[in-house]
Amino acid sequence: MAIERTFSIIKPDATRRNLTGAINAKIEQAGLRIIAQKRVRMTREQAETFYGVHRERPFFGELVDTMTAGPVVVQVLEGDNAIKTYRDIMGATNPANADAGTIRKEFAVSVGENSVHGSDAPETAAVEIAQWFSGNDIVG
Ligand code: RTP
Ligand code: MG
Repeated sequence: MAIERTFSIIKPDATRRNLTGAINAKIEQAGLRIIAQKRVRMTREQAETFYGVHRERPFFGELVDTMTAGPVVVQVLEGDNAIKTYRDIMGATNPANADAGTIRKEFAVSVGENSVHGSDAPETAAVEIAQWFSGNDIVG
């Protein structure tokens, strides 16, 4: 399997409930390494850019409100097949549909407050990592 990088966000609903460490434990238990990490407060402009692909969706305004409601932890994760590995342990977008043991099943509040983001493809991972980290910030 190829070593790959993915971009992760621990969302405001999770930082508010002090779940950063619990989520990081699940990430590390899955064999992924956290090779960059910082806690930031997203501006509306940053959130709109980050989720720009969803700009025309009815939930876009709510999504931007939710992502700017409190601090987030942005991360780069590295490991075998990292994009799929992380999506698998995140669980389904709607926690009601998430498998047992996944981050969203255990921690998410609702589809809007679903605790984590993970990139969905190598191309989006590269763009998302570049929005938040420069090369020197990532120590693999
Ligand atoms: P993410 O991008 O955050 O990792 O989530 P995802 O791939 O599982 O889901 P996506 O379709 O990309 O949606 C992005 C985020 O928008 C919110 N959402 N709300 N109210 C709704 O129907 C709805 N649908 C999506 C979720 O917070 C989702 O994570
Ligand atoms: Mg997505």
